[in-house]
Amino acid sequence: MNNKWWKEAVVYQIYPKSFQDSNEDGIGDVRGIINRLQYLKDLGITVIWICPMYKSPMDDGGYDIADYYSIDPIFGSNEDFDELIRKAEKVGIRILLDLVVNHTSDEHEWFEEALNDPDSEYRKYYHFVKGSNGRPPNNWRSYFGGSAWEPVPHEKNTFYLHAFSKKQPDLNWENEELREEIYKMINYWLDKGIAGFRIDAILNIKKSMVRGRLEPDGEDGLVYIGHWIMNQPGVQSLLKEINERTFKVHDSFTVAEAAVPNDHLDQYIGPGGFFSMVFDFSYTDIDVNETGDWFKPSGWTWTDMREKIFINQEITQEKGWGALYLENHDQPRSVSKYIPKHDINQYSKKMLGTLFMMLRGTPFIYQGQELGMTNIEMDSMEEYEDIATHDQYKRALLTGLSKEAAFKMISKRSRDNSRTPMQWDDSEQAGFSEGDNTWLKVNPNYTEINAEKERLDDRSVLNYYKKLIELRTTSNYREVIVYGKFVPDRTANDQTIVYERVWQDTKLLTAINFTNEKQTITIDENYTQVVLSNYQGVLINEKLCLRPYESMVLANR
Ligand code: GLC
Ligand code: CA
Repeated sequence: MNNKWWKEAVVYQIYPKSFQDSNEDGIGDVRGIINRLQYLKDLGITVIWICPMYKSPMDDGGYDIADYYSIDPIFGSNEDFDELIRKAEKVGIRILLDLVVNHTSDEHEWFEEALNDPDSEYRKYYHFVKGSNGRPPNNWRSYFGGSAWEPVPHEKNTFYLHAFSKKQPDLNWENEELREEIYKMINYWLDKGIAGFRIDAILNIKKSMVRGRLEPDGEDGLVYIGHWIMNQPGVQSLLKEINERTFKVHDSFTVAEAAVPNDHLDQYIGPGGFFSMVFDFSYTDIDVNETGDWFKPSGWTWTDMREKIFINQEITQEKGWGALYLENHDQPRSVSKYIPKHDINQYSKKMLGTLFMMLRGTPFIYQGQELGMTNIEMDSMEEYEDIATHDQYKRALLTGLSKEAAFKMISKRSRDNSRTPMQWDDSEQAGFSEGDNTWLKVNPNYTEINAEKERLDDRSVLNYYKKLIELRTTSNYREVIVYGKFVPDRTANDQTIVYERVWQDTKLLTAINFTNEKQTITIDENYTQVVLSNYQGVLINEKLCLRPYESMVLANR
């Protein structure tokens, strides 16, 4: 077995704007993270991934970078960040930064020069393409809606490509000079002592350009851009080069946002692969249709969910190593997504935690997930900040949905659901900020769901997550949970999820009831120990009756 420290890690994802404000401006910052290091240490996590904090006009929450080398003043200074690295290291926490290199901000100096001067060398850093008679080169739809081509002002027939918002022009990875600039930047941060990166939208860096009008797939006359820019032939050689010039040299921990087709997976996450691991989307995007339209329900069921988890685990284990997650800054809160509203309670929240934390792979816990935070109910579209939320709403209206229906669908999926301020305690602004306003509304349920209240309650979701983390990092079951083989039970009651983890003589069984009714399963007589349960008073029996949303972990010794 190929032991690696990052296989044994438990990662905590921080969305810096919403984690902790330290200077009353209602926006989270680096000092806020420093002030909360003790909380993270007590939780037991070993790595933090911090979403972009670089200089940015914040059109897309910082995923639009204007300067790769500076921390944005709203978050603090580069010195603050250096202090964070040092102080985190002192408490045994390593840091991953977000690497966003498919695009920059349109306010990056490279782009500004490129835009202002048709003869600038920087034009080759991006995709400036001639249209036909003033019309864009093709009818690709950007991921955030609308054409992926933006006309260049004062030039009649030139456009630049943006797969995301028009303030996020795509970089041209065919250009060696650009690639060298990027490698220099990556190595700059690695030299500072960060452990590695979460890598944004990386499968999009290779484009297959096509011209002319393509068959539209929506009412807007446009077509999903992913078919031509996601995982295109040739992307592998770029990824290999990035790895060799940067990550490999530093033996970094890298996790790529990359829905890699199964037959390519070993090149990505196998031994010597491009990355340590990748985020798969199969069960987190289970509620979204293939073209990513939030307003067209996918009609998923828990049975699909179970099969997707099983398949993902089996394939990942065959090819290499995986990342586990239920939430991130692009996803709604997991309890709101997977559990019907009337069933959201301590039991179902802990059930989800168990299901995910006992799988094989490195877990990523998103801030507030450990508290069981839920989606927010906004009163109107104006309350949403997220660019994708507004674009999806517009497109939903275009398909003929009423305003009410569109609002309802979009609210379920809005990325702002997970971006509301962290709920620390029951003081005003949930202890997130001492200012009068916060950049995004605090979820009014903070008086019930908050870290301080949960810390004092033995049976809270927070204390349950602590146990799950402890099991993985320091308990006697550490090895089987990290390195054990994943064995799904496809013959179990189909209203349950049952799987085993096997390492030498140790076996663990995880049994999950994802319904609000009792379910019975049959278990092997060797399972005699209760390792963890979300109910009191578990009686082990060959015929095991699982109560509503009951989840348990049993061991053979
Ligand atoms: C990734 C990020 C998302 C961002 C997009 C564009 O998907 O997770 O938040 O909007 O890339 O950078
Ligand atoms: Ca602040």
